[in-house]
Amino acid sequence: MSGPGVVSLPRRLAAPAPGWSTTAEVIVVGSGIAGLTCALRLREQGRQVLLVTKTRLAAGSTAWAQGGIAAALDEADSPQDHLEDTLVAGVGLCDEDAVRTLVTEGPQRVRQLAAAGANFDLDEAGHILLTREGGHHADRIAHAGGDATGAEISRALLAALAAVADDPGIEVIEDALVLDLLTCADGRVCGVTLHVIGEGEHDGVGSAHARAVVLATGGLGQIYTSTTNPPVATGDGMAAALRAGAVVTDLEFVQFHPTVLYLGEGSTGQQPLISEAVRGEGAVLRDERGEAFMQGVHPLADLAPRDVVARAILDRMAATGAEHVWLDARALGADFLTRRFPTILARCRDLGIDPATDLLPVAPAQHYASGGVRVDLHGRSSLDGLWAVGEVSCTGVHGANRLASNSLLEGLVFAHRAAEDVHDRIAKGALPQSRPVEDGPTGALVDGERRIELQRLMTRGAGPVRSAGPAAEALGSLAEPSGGAEPGPEAWESTNLLHLGQVLLTGALLREESRGGHVRSDHHERDDTNWCAHLLQVRDPEDGEVAVIKLEVEPAVPEGEQ
Ligand code: SIN
Repeated sequence: MSGPGVVSLPRRLAAPAPGWSTTAEVIVVGSGIAGLTCALRLREQGRQVLLVTKTRLAAGSTAWAQGGIAAALDEADSPQDHLEDTLVAGVGLCDEDAVRTLVTEGPQRVRQLAAAGANFDLDEAGHILLTREGGHHADRIAHAGGDATGAEISRALLAALAAVADDPGIEVIEDALVLDLLTCADGRVCGVTLHVIGEGEHDGVGSAHARAVVLATGGLGQIYTSTTNPPVATGDGMAAALRAGAVVTDLEFVQFHPTVLYLGEGSTGQQPLISEAVRGEGAVLRDERGEAFMQGVHPLADLAPRDVVARAILDRMAATGAEHVWLDARALGADFLTRRFPTILARCRDLGIDPATDLLPVAPAQHYASGGVRVDLHGRSSLDGLWAVGEVSCTGVHGANRLASNSLLEGLVFAHRAAEDVHDRIAKGALPQSRPVEDGPTGALVDGERRIELQRLMTRGAGPVRSAGPAAEALGSLAEPSGGAEPGPEAWESTNLLHLGQVLLTGALLREESRGGHVRSDHHERDDTNWCAHLLQVRDPEDGEVAVIKLEVEPAVPEGEQ
């Protein structure tokens, strides 16, 4: 379809020629729940795995996840109920088969994770304690350490990895930023180029060759001025896949978490999250006047789906001229807060706010990329040899808005499926080791010092509330990056953000409606007549231009049933 202006991307990032190389059967990039699950499962099946991660093994988004992992574990709950809540949250654009896969395989995978050593919080009878978050009609969120679920899952998976540390069949390289995908003559992905800050064998830019590559590189939160994502979330895997010609989709559906601690206008980078589980336990949102304004907005009030709550907060901020609203958790009491939310309590108290006695200033901030590299039910991308799992991927599970605590579950379920699929294909003799062909052209790199400008442009053009003017302006500015930066990690990351920003803005400009994580002030309503569709974007290998394909679908949930 004709777009707001053609985005043109280089095939790869400018970088020194690889000075070293290595070979594995499968390369897994990323060490959150998806990457670790996939790497460990592949190894269990006897595949030889190279696991690379950008900084330290535990530095990604998984360890920051507070609320938990959703699964129908209670006898009174069912996968069907979980499916229905997920479809409603996704505002008509979920892929029902993908959601069914998630909710039916989820409970078993969570139980396996517990059996493998993840210590979920238990009741007195030893059953996994379950709580509720926005958009769920049942208690189905398993948590650990109160509000440290991701940290515990990360710990358990890293312990499993440590247990195979002596196994020569699984090699780990930390401080390894993946730059680009290598492809062989028939277009199949057959490795990556990467930059390692190391010493000895692997140092500087190198190449790793494999029969299959699995991206598990997480999200792109650092594209905005403020986000709950850690500094490593610069969309590296998604950008590399895009440059290599993989289809990406739904990038305009960015989830802004409603309750991120507001630390002042100038506060940038990773911001403290106040888990939705705090509202799940009874905290309420209040405006400047103390009014609990979610009553009457939605039948689930403070526990409405995340996009509904974020939008109501933004409306209230606009109406009152305030920079934030308040979260009132005082009724939960100091004892309960200490037990149930130790991480949040400690962080708030460090910042001089006591949730037991003070109202918490909160405002929406970027939290999750619902779109990503388009994959099927096995995590296969549109490029042979390339799989994607976790936040970097778009399985279709989230539609226009992810249901709370479905992300860890998606990482777990689909990483497992991808590992099975990679193993099957290799076992059948598919995906031979092949030599990569010469890469295509490089483009100008963005100076790392200019990242904040890019983040401001993205926040103005494709933040929680969008409209044509600022989005077009931002896209225009990004089309002419001031180039010339020297190759290096800061410039590579910033250029990845630039490439993804252009594609995200293209989707945000084209989609003239409001739905889920995409809110347009100039097109207020959901428009199923014109926009029950996914926007697929793919780089043409010949000229580097990114084509936009509008893929119309039947609404997974009709408008009236939202
Ligand atoms: C939260 O704890 O509110 C975040 C959980 C999620 O993003 O699913």
